[in-house]
Amino acid sequence: MGTVNVGVIGVGNCASSLVQGVEYYSNATGGPAGLTHAVCAGYAVSDVRFTSAFDVNVSKIGRDLSEAIWAEPNNALKFADVPHLGVPVREGILSDGVGHSAVDRIDAHGRATLDDVVEHLKRTDTHVVVNFLPVGSHRASELYAEAALRAGCAFVNCIPSVIARSADWSRKFANASLPLIGDDLKSQFGATLVHHALVDVLARNGVQLRNTYQIVSGGNMDFLNMQDPERVKSKKTTKVQGFGGAELPAESVHFGAEYVPFLKDRKIAFIRLEGEAFGGTPLELELRMCVEDSPQRRRQRTGCGSIHEVRDGSRDSRRRRSGFVVAYEGNTSAHERVRRAGRTERHDRRSRQSMSPSLLKRRPPNDSSFLPPEAAAGIGWRAVRRSALLNGAV
Ligand SMILES: NC(=O)c1ccc[n+]([C@@H]2O[C@H](COP(=O)([O-])OP(=O)(O)OC[C@H]3O[C@@H](n4cnc5c(N)ncnc54)[C@H](O)[C@@H]3O)[C@@H](O)[C@H]2O)c1
Repeated sequence: MGTVNVGVIGVGNCASSLVQGVEYYSNATGGPAGLTHAVCAGYAVSDVRFTSAFDVNVSKIGRDLSEAIWAEPNNALKFADVPHLGVPVREGILSDGVGHSAVDRIDAHGRATLDDVVEHLKRTDTHVVVNFLPVGSHRASELYAEAALRAGCAFVNCIPSVIARSADWSRKFANASLPLIGDDLKSQFGATLVHHALVDVLARNGVQLRNTYQIVSGGNMDFLNMQDPERVKSKKTTKVQGFGGAELPAESVHFGAEYVPFLKDRKIAFIRLEGEAFGGTPLELELRMCVEDSPQRRRQRTGCGSIHEVRDGSRDSRRRRSGFVVAYEGNTSAHERVRRAGRTERHDRRSRQSMSPSLLKRRPPNDSSFLPPEAAAGIGWRAVRRSALLNGAV
């Protein structure tokens, strides 16, 4: 079916995890543990090729993508050896990419023009542009979205800035028959997913949520950037929507993020929910979780991993289908996808295990929520366990 040619904007921790993930799963011999879909729309992970990359940090510019992912200040966990990719990181467009909190950590050059980026995307035959700029880089993200549009590429916005949710950008990409996917990333099995599952299961059992918070800490650049009050605004918005806080008054919902350098790319989250149960009795629930942050961040808030968005985005980019693509295969059974891809019996078995066809069949097509209603209908632990399975954790 050909390859899916990917361009990366911002070679930070998330890009590192994506590049490693493609290498890891392209060569996986033990089955696709940790991945929701081994094959997506007929494309396997091994069909993904990196063709272009942009950054503004001199520690990364000019280096091969396989080396730039290890350059400071990146500190994502290493889980794959990435061979030389033949993709030199190009100098990008600086705009608002580097904020106050990060300015001392980055020697930034960003003199490329929009035309330079468009020309490079075309010359490298990039199909899908994946945006991994720092939180709050809204103007820079718009410039790269414009470049993707002019170069005829799909655009996957992995940062919390409003692009795919903007009517204006949706219309522009729809008019050009190019997919636009986003916004922001959700962990494979992180604090927001667990928070959302718990809020949902309380509501389904008649408990009235009164107050809730999520306080996270970590030592990567994303956490450093979140110390900037202006930059963290968009993150707070998507977080609060994610854990159902949108229906509570603002003073009853809190999201806090602390930068703790020694945690590196580990993230520790504390979640608290206070509710009113039968007869007005008080209910309190507290949870602590610790995850390796960036490797988890391969899911989009629309419901599928960025590896998968990359593959779906490319398919639609080639066929020139118009409109917003929700990268979610809710209307295709696991058996059908595996059959179409002609996977081995072992892969079939593992894929069925992690995708649970009966659950997938019952999901409405194009449902933008990441947790099907039945996953949250039981008691809390069952909701969380099922949601882990649906998200590829084994
Ligand atoms: N780290 C996570 O686990 C996580 C979780 C959820 C969402 N996200 C979102 O994903 C995005 C990327 O996260 P990350 O952890 O990889 O961040 P990061 O800070 O590690 O990487 C960002 C990269 O972008 C580069 N950059 C800055 N301005 C640029 C510009 N104008 N042009 C090109 N490159 C530029 C930086 O030099 C850096 O290499 C963030 O917006 C973040 O909020 C990250």
